[in-house]
Amino acid sequence: MPNDCGSTDPTSVARFMAGCRRMAEDGSGARLAIERRSDGTFVGWCTFNSWDADFRSASLGYCLKEAAWGHGYATEAARVLLQWAFDTLDLNRVQSETDTRNGASARVLEKLGFVREGTLRADCIVNGAVSDSWVYGLLRRDWA
Ligand SMILES: CC(C)(COP(=O)(O)OP(=O)(O)OC[C@H]1O[C@@H](n2cnc3c(N)ncnc32)[C@H](O)[C@@H]1OP(=O)(O)O)[C@@H](O)C(=O)NCCC(=O)NCCS
Repeated sequence: MPNDCGSTDPTSVARFMAGCRRMAEDGSGARLAIERRSDGTFVGWCTFNSWDADFRSASLGYCLKEAAWGHGYATEAARVLLQWAFDTLDLNRVQSETDTRNGASARVLEKLGFVREGTLRADCIVNGAVSDSWVYGLLRRDWA
């Protein structure tokens, strides 16, 4: 199983697999592989985590291999996962955060109906550069 976006670095793969196992064991989430329908090629993953059954909330994340960007796959996969989550897990709210420099990710969330709710200052460090994150939320009533 590839790790984030298809890297095969052993340390990253081990961390990725540990995360998958932890979510499966403690029931806090699920990570799904995304395959291209036409040829079955693995193109990335989409995940629900931080599932809270009492609050009926969870977080959404996704990552696609660069060669697969720009075909609508992230939006399509996230939409299917959200439909399942609202129907089956009876969620009331899904949250997602994205680096403010990640225009494509913000666009995916906005296409799905997420509303930008705020900014987390200095929330992430990517390749040594500190950056802010946007917080997005999608409510059940907005989805319906
Ligand atoms: C973000 C990511 C998931 C998008 O995947 P994707 O399959 O290319 O997304 P989609 O094709 O469904 O939609 C991308 C949208 O962003 C738009 N877009 C692309 N680059 C953009 C940019 N720099 N600024 C603004 N919008 C951009 C596209 O035009 C498209 O919108 P449209 O349908 O209105 O034309 C992918 O780039 C990725 O995996 N990146 C690395 C990991 C990552 O950033 N994960 C998210 C962390 S929160």
